[in-house]
Amino acid sequence: MNQFKRHRRLRASKEIRALVQETTIDINKLIYPLFVVEGENIKEEIPSMPGVYHLSLDQLLLELQELRFLGLNKIILFGIPEVKDAFGSGAFQKDGIIQRATRFIKENYPNFLVIADTCICQYTTDGHCGLLQDGVIVNDESLEIHNQVALSQAIAGVDIVAPSSMMDGFVSSIRATLDNHGFEHTPIMSYGIKYSSAFYGPFRDAAENAPSGGSNRDTYQMNPANRLEALRELASDIKEGADFIIIKPALAYLDIIRDIRNNSSLPIIAYQVSGEYSMLKAAAINGWIDEQQVVEETFLSMFRAGADAIITYSAKDYAKWLHNNGAT
Ligand code: PBG
Repeated sequence: MNQFKRHRRLRASKEIRALVQETTIDINKLIYPLFVVEGENIKEEIPSMPGVYHLSLDQLLLELQELRFLGLNKIILFGIPEVKDAFGSGAFQKDGIIQRATRFIKENYPNFLVIADTCICQYTTDGHCGLLQDGVIVNDESLEIHNQVALSQAIAGVDIVAPSSMMDGFVSSIRATLDNHGFEHTPIMSYGIKYSSAFYGPFRDAAENAPSGGSNRDTYQMNPANRLEALRELASDIKEGADFIIIKPALAYLDIIRDIRNNSSLPIIAYQVSGEYSMLKAAAINGWIDEQQVVEETFLSMFRAGADAIITYSAKDYAKWLHNNGAT
């Protein structure tokens, strides 16, 4: 008698399972990425990311309408400029695609929380996140450019800047620039823990920012083999004044999310990146997995690991499932 514990008592009905469920998905904690392009009447699906589009501003308006109807109001913007140059100057022009999109969104939908990806890789001819000089991505010279990008985004009215270049000192440098120009209330969501990952493949089609000539981002993004290095990056971000920390990719890095949770009280954002989305979509389209169940399971795993919020291309699908048939 009584020689083993009956764990199944707490799994016996839907009700009791709900009662003891430790983690839940909250739609308020989902951030939806959007790709904005110049031009008019453009809604072009990204081939490797079914359901994700390049949108011109007029089409963006319709998209926001739908998102609002579905209960999503947090977005992260990526801009694809018409022209690129060596300095990525399209990223910090007053009338750059992101600056125009931000003003447009704020005029039409002031209640959307607008996060801007603060980087230059979509805007540079070489596709790198920092300046390329004699074959080297130079650090300190790049900071000056990123300061300008962040400042121009703040002036345009973004709610949060999200610097993603992984240059050393990028958070303190942007913090100082924002503070010096009266934007001390604009938070920084730092992509502080960003791995040099093959899971970004589809995004590089979407954002047209693949590094040129077969080069890669290994000198600034982190080695996927490393864990302690994430703690060092975290320490810098905390010291430099980050308000949030992004961990990216998400599903293959749940251990890192947990490590950061255990070592910091900063809000953690998990970025479920393009390749994660494309894998799920491809399997779902083939009928090999139940997309809703699998997506929900990935969200739960990220929250369980310690994430406070998730940037995910599946946010809209999730919102639709919630709307149509009730998510599980
Ligand atoms: C670069 C940037 C990348 C992503 C967002 N911003 C990665 C990269 O190309 O190195 C990837 C997002 C995704 O894969 O969904 N600033």
